[in-house]
Amino acid sequence: MKLSCVILAAGMGKRMRSDLPKVLHQLYDRPMLQYVLNATLSLKPDSVIVVVGKSNGKAIEKAVEKNPKVKFAVQDNPLGTAHALQCALPHLKGSKSTVLVVNGDMPLINHKTLKKFLSIHSRKKNSLSALSFFAGGPSEYGRIVRDYNTGKAVRIVEVKEATSEECEIDEVNSGLYAIENQSLDLLKRIRKSNAGGEFYITDLFEETLKNALKADIYPIGEEGEFLGINTRSELAIAHESLRVKHITSLVAGGVNFIDLLTAFIYPSVKIGRDTTIYPNVYIHGETTIGKNCTIYPNVRIVDSKISDNVVIKDSTVIEESVVSEDAQVGPFAHLRPGTYLKESVKIGNFVELKKTVVGKGTKAMHLSYLGDAIIGEGANIGAGTITCNYDGRNKFQTVIEDGVFVGSDSQLVAPVTVRRGAYIGAGSTITREVPEFSLAVSRPKQTNIPDWVKRKITPAKNKKKG
Ligand code: UD1
Ligand code: CA
Repeated sequence: MKLSCVILAAGMGKRMRSDLPKVLHQLYDRPMLQYVLNATLSLKPDSVIVVVGKSNGKAIEKAVEKNPKVKFAVQDNPLGTAHALQCALPHLKGSKSTVLVVNGDMPLINHKTLKKFLSIHSRKKNSLSALSFFAGGPSEYGRIVRDYNTGKAVRIVEVKEATSEECEIDEVNSGLYAIENQSLDLLKRIRKSNAGGEFYITDLFEETLKNALKADIYPIGEEGEFLGINTRSELAIAHESLRVKHITSLVAGGVNFIDLLTAFIYPSVKIGRDTTIYPNVYIHGETTIGKNCTIYPNVRIVDSKISDNVVIKDSTVIEESVVSEDAQVGPFAHLRPGTYLKESVKIGNFVELKKTVVGKGTKAMHLSYLGDAIIGEGANIGAGTITCNYDGRNKFQTVIEDGVFVGSDSQLVAPVTVRRGAYIGAGSTITREVPEFSLAVSRPKQTNIPDWVKRKITPAKNKKKG
């Protein structure tokens, strides 16, 4: 079957109460339109035409991934869904393909249902097929009116136009249609609706039947996947549905969640078995987490690779970084982009790293900034160590070789190298290379002045009391 797809995305989306075009509202990290595009592209059509508005077209075109099959048609005025489809027709001219029309606000549709729908459509040789489902509760979806005796669908009626009896019908229109050329030709016959004042694509069903062409409606698929997003609360429902779907698949793969309700894991994230995720953890982007890790509460991880047996303690942020096997990070640590922790590294409270490589088994447990640094194996970075990597204009590198001991409250003024096995005395400011196995101390010598307190301070206090 030759196939083209049309995605209707030009509507104003007024019910969202937003300046952003409705189809650009995000579900996780991408606009809802991208999900619809991916679902249609998965059918390998010849082309996908996205109908956009005059004012929102450029923004929509920019926001979705480029694809040579995807083209944009402009609907100058949003006069209704039938009019929107008509605006796509010039782009389909000459192609004898079946046209699959999809509302741009139904991001949860899946490949399997679309495939099934198209195969029924072609088997039945219909000029128009529509997909319906049974709504579990009250809804604003168009109602499918069937002949009382034969059960055959006779028309689709919008709630605005429906009688109270018709509003009782629970079989509703999903916003998915497969249409052949002879039915598309009838689009121009559609008249403005009475109540909405718009040209409804749903009227094409009755129009097709009127012209003695075959048309039918098939209730297939689950209600959840046809959720049409008109409001922010429907967007939240779609988001939650995607979240639950992903968490469920992770649980099935052996991941342990302490609280399924407060884990926010993007669909792009992979997590190994026997890893435990505590509440309120956000993991996004292209992140992989290995096996047997523990991620404690309030952690955010973005675009990072965490290997097996890693422990990330509470309130830690990890961005574009690599954490190798058996490492421990946090609580309250910040791994900024370009951090690479090798095996068994320990990073503790209030330690910030940026573009820094830390060698196997090295520890930086308290209150440090390690930026633009290369740190060797088995080093100990004392509390309060700071790499002074920035002179106000440029960044410079600090090199700390294997086995170095940096005493607490030291500053390493980059560029500077501390050679293998060297010791740095606490409170030092290091500005020159420290040779291997030497001790560098830069603080002034301590002076003790005997009885200074008694002479200068205690007499005054005593006087007051007396
Ligand atoms: C539509 C259907 C309804 C169905 C529901 C499924 C019509 C008349 N009604 O209602 O039967 O149950 O979807 O979710 O089609 N759009 C344009 N140009 C326009 C108007 C709309 O491109 O002039 C686009 C919108 O951006 C949207 C899609 O068409 O992506 C559907 O429009 P919307 O206003 O959301 O229709 P519903 O009222 O939800
Ligand atoms: Ca809608």
